[in-house]
Amino acid sequence: MCGIAGYVGPQSAVPIVFDQLRRLEYRGYDSAGIAFPQGDRIGILKRAGKLSGLGEMLAQETPESHVAIAHSRWATHGAPNDLNAHPHYDQFGQIALIHNGIIENYLELKTELAREGDTFQSETDTEVAAHVIGRLHAQGLSLEEAVRQSLAKFRGAYAFVVLSAREPGTIVCARNASPLVLGFGEGENLLASDVPALIPWTRRVWTMPDDTVAVLTKDGIRVTDVNGRPVEAEPEEVTWDVAAAEKGGYEHFMIKEIHEQPLVARQCLAGRLTDDNRVALDGVFSDHVWQEIDRVNIIGCGTAYHAGLMGKHLFERMLRLPTDVFYSSEFRYGDPLLSDRSLAVFISQSGETADSLAALRLCQQRRIRTLGIVNVVGSAIARECDRVIYTQAGPEISVASTKAYTAQCLVLLQLGMTIAQHREMPGVRVEEVVRDLRQWPERVVEALGLEEQVKRIANEWADSRMAFFLGRNADAAVALEGALKLKEIAYIPTQEGPAGELKHGPLALVEEGVLAVFGATDPFVREKLASNVKEVQARGGRALIITTHDDDTMDGVGDEVLRIPGGKTPYLNALMSVVPLQLLAYYMARAKNLEIDMPRNLAKSVTVE
Ligand code: F6R
Repeated sequence: MCGIAGYVGPQSAVPIVFDQLRRLEYRGYDSAGIAFPQGDRIGILKRAGKLSGLGEMLAQETPESHVAIAHSRWATHGAPNDLNAHPHYDQFGQIALIHNGIIENYLELKTELAREGDTFQSETDTEVAAHVIGRLHAQGLSLEEAVRQSLAKFRGAYAFVVLSAREPGTIVCARNASPLVLGFGEGENLLASDVPALIPWTRRVWTMPDDTVAVLTKDGIRVTDVNGRPVEAEPEEVTWDVAAAEKGGYEHFMIKEIHEQPLVARQCLAGRLTDDNRVALDGVFSDHVWQEIDRVNIIGCGTAYHAGLMGKHLFERMLRLPTDVFYSSEFRYGDPLLSDRSLAVFISQSGETADSLAALRLCQQRRIRTLGIVNVVGSAIARECDRVIYTQAGPEISVASTKAYTAQCLVLLQLGMTIAQHREMPGVRVEEVVRDLRQWPERVVEALGLEEQVKRIANEWADSRMAFFLGRNADAAVALEGALKLKEIAYIPTQEGPAGELKHGPLALVEEGVLAVFGATDPFVREKLASNVKEVQARGGRALIITTHDDDTMDGVGDEVLRIPGGKTPYLNALMSVVPLQLLAYYMARAKNLEIDMPRNLAKSVTVE
């Protein structure tokens, strides 16, 4: 999710690639850098912090070159500082590399290289990749061949862009899963991670397919597959204006981010699942801590709190580990009962939410172990927790959170499996869960295939006066998140929670014009849920049911039924149902012609109490 830029042509390249980065700046990157051929070496300028820091360096002296690559970092490995900023040199200082994505096996590669004498300046996976490519290049392979042959050594999602001092008129790039777009100009060529960084220079763009390598010179772009066979590029003319281009051609950031979820899931799992189907989380507590914990307290606000409810369901149902979930604002003023052996888990996308930070400091005063599940690397909560697991969801711009939520829930599942691995829990089938996790990103792609159906339903029901979101077990937890999305952006009042509670009060609100959405992914309680559906319909309400693809018991029960792909892990099936719920909220708000990315009265990061 980092920003990538590159230019080769007759113009002065450094100001151009800097300008390309500026066009991606709205995402709030944490460091930036530029590489360019300079005599018989490659020059690098880089700096932590906002892009303006790099701008100040360039203002003092702009290097003259007709080729340059640039990167703005959204940290995943290592803190956002000068050393970890891209580009990175190889061991011989002959090549410079920038990278978007995660190399899952970078630690193994780093150990191998260190054994051969390589030393590293940063904590990044990117520098390891630079060394791998650099070694092949130093053995005499062309830069293109060195990149191609090194790809077989990397596991994970990546987009690489490389310069070599030996081939100063050439940029080589490669892609697997992380975005990389080529820009075809007249006597000049460009590349970028996203279209907005290309359109001031060319509107002829082409997104590189997975497992391809491209060589850019001023005269042309040549694309090949990983075996060196030619691949024909088919540039298209983009007609988007700059604002649309920032959203990847989508109308809003929210829908773009909903669609990013398969990639986010891949990134969130990258490097954390082993070949023998176990979970290997980096940098968490040592083994004995997992055995000691007697209780988990999960703390967060809004969507993060809802992810916490999923965590509670998981830890209690699967691990039999007592778990409480607190709103940060209640926790900090609530004089909570905390056992010395408990673990406090703080969930936050921004890592800066004031109430969550205050709750964290309270735990520290009480000497309780703290673990952060955070998206923004180097944020306050990430820094202050004893340990942190990053969600790796990339920058989230839409105020209504979508991809951060799914990533938080995936991390909770990985955390749960880590605990299970250390507590000898024969009832928990870690291998089965991990196999299911691996398939999750592809299943999200399938779930997104419901978009047209959801859009039709949303258009038909956008006039709903009120909406209920109901479920049982984990579906009840997801119901809360579905309701929050709808009220945040479509301004429709909602009532949400366990379906069994309906007739204890909320049923009084059901009448004509009320919509009820039921999560029915859990087969053990479906029959019960079907009676709740009838209760709503008998009073004039309309019912939408979300169930798994293998279930036909709900056919004819609801007014509409959506089938999502399911697997063996009930937790993951419930989580999948959030995808159509996000789409429903989005399309209902759109049908009402509302401002979606910045809903009234709300802010993305709540740094006030
Ligand atoms: C809802 C939403 C908010 C945040 C909440 C916590 O869509 O985005 O409810 O989840 O403000 O923010 P973080 O996760 O940054 O601590």
